[in-house]
Amino acid sequence: MNIALTVIPTYDEIENLEAIVDRVLAVGRSDVLVVDDASPDGTGVLADRLAAQHPGVHVLHRTAKDGLGRAYLAGFAWGRERGYDVLVEMDADGSHQPESLPTMLDELADADIVLGSRWVPGGSVVNWPVHRKALSVGGNLYARLALGIDVRDATGGYRAFRAGALDVIGLDGVASQGYCFQLDLLWRGLERGLRVVEVPITFVEREHGVSKMSGGIVRESLWNVTVWGLRRRITAVREIVLHRRRLPSVRANTRRLAPA
Ligand code: GDD
Ligand code: MN
Repeated sequence: MNIALTVIPTYDEIENLEAIVDRVLAVGRSDVLVVDDASPDGTGVLADRLAAQHPGVHVLHRTAKDGLGRAYLAGFAWGRERGYDVLVEMDADGSHQPESLPTMLDELADADIVLGSRWVPGGSVVNWPVHRKALSVGGNLYARLALGIDVRDATGGYRAFRAGALDVIGLDGVASQGYCFQLDLLWRGLERGLRVVEVPITFVEREHGVSKMSGGIVRESLWNVTVWGLRRRITAVREIVLHRRRLPSVRANTRRLAPA
């Protein structure tokens, strides 16, 4: 199929990076781009060593910790400039299993965006504390109600995009800095009629290092989802009143892959 690039953002992932890169290479379906934000623990130096060892591994160094969203935007731009047809998002900490990549990439034949999904039948989360589970379930429920979408895991970070889908999404218009970036891309894609499929995945909490999730990230997401939902409703009413037209559905183009 097409040439894929797996983009792995890193901030202080020195204990995790080599293992995840090795596993992605072992699957053999994509090149790797590590986007490191000048990690104090030396992750960027390790990434350079891995890139020197493996022709399919590349590194993008940024000068300061600037959020997951901006790291991905920089990584996607890097990949687009080099002609990759498919861009994959994956955490560095081993939570996303590279062994799910073949299924996800194959599903892209019939979709524009593939979401690795923890909250569809067959998906699961291993070793998450109850407060993280509650945050994810609650956040996804709120997103579903506020935006009127039919996606079970809209906040996950394991995804594959056709390059053309990123053009339709319009990355220049994506402002979210933190993990809300995930919701932002998906929402823009759904509003623009892209086809989305959820593939069940097993998310395994990291064994080394710490999560960079923060209260600020949660607040950014809550605020943005609320604004997007209200804006959508206002636009819908305006379309009906002024043009006697209904907005296209943001539920129509989503489906789920049955558990294996
Ligand atoms: N370059 C860069 N810059 N990388 C970052 C930054 C940043 O500012 N912040 C986080 N990362 C990297 C981490 O190093 C890791 O590889 C990945 O982004 C995910 O960070 P974690 O801190 O491990 O996230 P999590 O496990 O709490 O959250 C997971 O679930 C979220 C909610 O479902 C991730 O899968 C998120 O993507 C997801 O939104
Ligand atoms: Mn993690």
